[in-house]
Amino acid sequence: MKFTIHDSRFTIHDSRFTIHDSPCTIHDSPCTIDHSQFIIMPKTVFISGATSGFGKACAEKFASECYDLILNGRREERLEEIKTKLEKQYNIAVYLLPFDVQQRDRVFDVVKTIPADWQGIDVLINNAGLALGRDYFDEADMDDWDTMIDTNVKGLLYVSRALIPLMIKRSASTGIPGHIINLGSIAGDEVYEKGNVYCASKFAVDAISKSMRIDLLRHGIKVTNIAPGAAETEFGIVRFKGNEPTAKKVYEGLTPLSARDVADIIYYTTTLPPHVCINELVITCTQQANTIYFHRKPN
Ligand SMILES: NC(=O)c1ccc[n+]([C@@H]2O[C@H](COP(=O)([O-])OP(=O)(O)OC[C@H]3O[C@@H](n4cnc5c(N)ncnc54)[C@H](OP(=O)(O)O)[C@@H]3O)[C@@H](O)[C@H]2O)c1
Repeated sequence: MKFTIHDSRFTIHDSRFTIHDSPCTIHDSPCTIDHSQFIIMPKTVFISGATSGFGKACAEKFASECYDLILNGRREERLEEIKTKLEKQYNIAVYLLPFDVQQRDRVFDVVKTIPADWQGIDVLINNAGLALGRDYFDEADMDDWDTMIDTNVKGLLYVSRALIPLMIKRSASTGIPGHIINLGSIAGDEVYEKGNVYCASKFAVDAISKSMRIDLLRHGIKVTNIAPGAAETEFGIVRFKGNEPTAKKVYEGLTPLSARDVADIIYYTTTLPPHVCINELVITCTQQANTIYFHRKPN
């Protein structure tokens, strides 16, 4: 574990840790403290859609910064692999909550099963989401529309509604603001041809983030909308339904954002002092100006 402790009253200057009053002994290197009045609890982040892309990169980043992780996604084997790797590599704890964010009752039922010692959630990253198809409005598959709205909008709402009461409790008991990070998109800022319902779902994430920020003001919870541009993850393969060559074409002539780039920025937003909140961040690679203009270079 990496943390620094200054002064004789054991004030901890590090936003990654929470202090709880209770007599105990802390041993850690390079500093060793005996007979202090405090125990140091690592912070916990909940990440939806942690089996690939931004979610998986966030799991790695937060683990490397000593957070304990609660990871969600539908592909359980992948979650198990990530848990095994990160627990071993970073000496942190990982709790798995596999479920489909579209299933309202299941989301609430599963959240009720979170053990008491995992309920102190400091950071929620609402990342699970997808684009399906890239078709003209009049030709689009309405099942794709349903899945995007059910995942990107309704799923985000259900997970947030289920977890926010735990975050309010945590925030009140520690005095440290909880933080909700919603994965919007540059597609939630500007629409583009054949982006129709995906764009609409991300405009909704923007509106939900703004509303959450207002409604959670009284609880001191931070809300950040992260709006990335083109990033190479499994996103394109999912959007084009397994057609890898078409998915690859999107990034032709570009050095797109990587999942790691986005995870590093997400982590940064959580490192600011309690009174500072980044409300929105639009992030693109240098070769992308907005949803339409790219400067592609021949490979
Ligand atoms: N890549 C980009 O260019 C880009 C740009 C802007 C915004 N975004 C947004 O960033 C977020 C992450 O995308 P990504 O690029 O990292 O894509 P990705 O690599 O395809 O990852 C998407 C993650 O969401 C999970 N997921 C999808 N549907 C789910 C469901 N119903 N229940 C639970 N988990 C579900 C997937 O896990 P399972 O399949 O295992 O459930 C996966 O872990 C999405 O909200 C996306 O809209 C992406």
